[in-house]
Amino acid sequence: MTRDTDDIDDEEPREERTVPDGGAAGAEGADDVALDPWGSSTVSDYRKLFDEFGIEEFDAVLPEVPNPHYLMRRGVIFGHRDYRPVAEAMREGDEFAVLSGFMPTGDPHIGHKLVFDEIIWHQEQGGDAYGLIADLEAHSARGMTWDEIDEHARDYLLSLLALGFDAEDGELYRQSDNRELQDLAFELGSKARFAEFESIYGFDGETSVSHMQSVVTQMADILYPQLDGPKPTVIPVGPDQDPHMRLARDLATKMRYFKITEAYASFELRDAERPLVARAYDAREEYAEDPETPRCGEAGEWLASVDLDSAGIVAAESVRESAVEKLENAGMEPLRPRVRFLDRNATEGAFETLVEEIEGEKRRYDEHVDAFDLDREAAEDLARAVEIDHDGYGFIAPSSIYHRFMTGLTGGKMSSSVPASHISLLDAPEDGYDKVKSATTGGRETAELQRELGGEADKCPVYELYAYLLAGDDDTFAKEVYDECVGGERLCGGCKEQAAELMREFLEEHQEKREEAAELLDDLDIDLDAARRGVAGDGE
Ligand code: TRP
Ligand code: SF4
Repeated sequence: MTRDTDDIDDEEPREERTVPDGGAAGAEGADDVALDPWGSSTVSDYRKLFDEFGIEEFDAVLPEVPNPHYLMRRGVIFGHRDYRPVAEAMREGDEFAVLSGFMPTGDPHIGHKLVFDEIIWHQEQGGDAYGLIADLEAHSARGMTWDEIDEHARDYLLSLLALGFDAEDGELYRQSDNRELQDLAFELGSKARFAEFESIYGFDGETSVSHMQSVVTQMADILYPQLDGPKPTVIPVGPDQDPHMRLARDLATKMRYFKITEAYASFELRDAERPLVARAYDAREEYAEDPETPRCGEAGEWLASVDLDSAGIVAAESVRESAVEKLENAGMEPLRPRVRFLDRNATEGAFETLVEEIEGEKRRYDEHVDAFDLDREAAEDLARAVEIDHDGYGFIAPSSIYHRFMTGLTGGKMSSSVPASHISLLDAPEDGYDKVKSATTGGRETAELQRELGGEADKCPVYELYAYLLAGDDDTFAKEVYDECVGGERLCGGCKEQAAELMREFLEEHQEKREEAAELLDDLDIDLDAARRGVAGDGE
């Protein structure tokens, strides 16, 4: 089996950063990073996600985002994969999309609100917006019956609408009810291998086929916004969903008709070898008998003997050796830069058309064609256009952004199954008030100590409520709470009272809006009385 390596994101250098706010989540606890979409995900050290999984820090793209959301400004959205194309589309006024999905396993709570807000914000920035109910997943992987699913689905959608999702402009659907989605899932399934499911999700011989089907369905969800044409798409999720993102990005790539690489001769180069050969090409004046037509053999000789350090080349010796070998084997063949279109899945017609449409000098081989007068970007555009003209999708690899998990109000993890740990969007406003009042804090043992040492806002679930929700767009207010807390001017009693009241107001207002949204929802073309039959899966 050959593996495509072109979807592996380049690592970027990063700086250490302390999070002055919003950084409370999971600050303490077991030292684990578990990215398991169906397990209990805890993330105690967000930095590990960068190092181990290649998620990038959101801060690095923040300056490229026009009027960023407060969750971005406060570091609640801490990471991303490939968000730049989305930010660029936003800046340029180009088409882009946002999509996320919800498993209707319980009440929507304030953790889900983060995602609702992220979808809505991207919609307000001009994105095509999608919200979906992951009912197939809830049924197969979480053991929910269809009745339970119907009831909860309604609650998720009402909250999404109440918070401002524009359903006339955007699309809401449930997985089980979307034929186009299922067709796409089936197509994607032809590129998904069980071996990958094993390594990504730990699936084994006991895993039900329906559970696997729910995975390809999620892959289809993620690419669904591109069914009417490729566009940058962002999927806002918690980091537990990152395995799904990696698979989706991989499948998007594997579905493409052509793979484009940069080459210098008839042989293929590995990504690591390419910069070395590029350097050898640039240095041709130094060694070529005729610098107009440097030969591979000459370049190989040069590369074999050059001092890497003084030539400013960073590469492992083994990489140099393999590059030299390839060059020397090619002997008298001219060394000449080109873009290469490798036939990955192209139909014959698509390949023919591509060859025809390449402008300038080209050379055609069995499984690829080299173009000598085309730059990389023009090549990408051409390949995508030909693919789409020949019944392909032309997918752009989807992007993602990741938000921190909220800390439970009782300390530890916020969990749907522990009511006191979270605030449901359906909680009676009075109950919301009470839960905040009895929350644990980052306060000191006594008021005296608190005045002396200041509170630990970074470890305080109540501060998190301010930063993630209660302060809304008001950064000054969020900062004031933080500064007053750590400065010892704020005591927990009053602080909680204020937060509890804000929570009560928020819930009151939200629930009024939910009632107004009920009418909207009734008018939408979404069946919330599925009346399906069947036996819920056991999560295997
Ligand atoms: N798996 C997600 C969850 O556990 C739900 C989901 C289904 C989803 N399809 C999606 C999330 C597409 C983002 C995008 O909550
Ligand atoms: Fe938390 Fe407020 Fe107490 Fe600070 S003062 S520790 S923010 S409850």
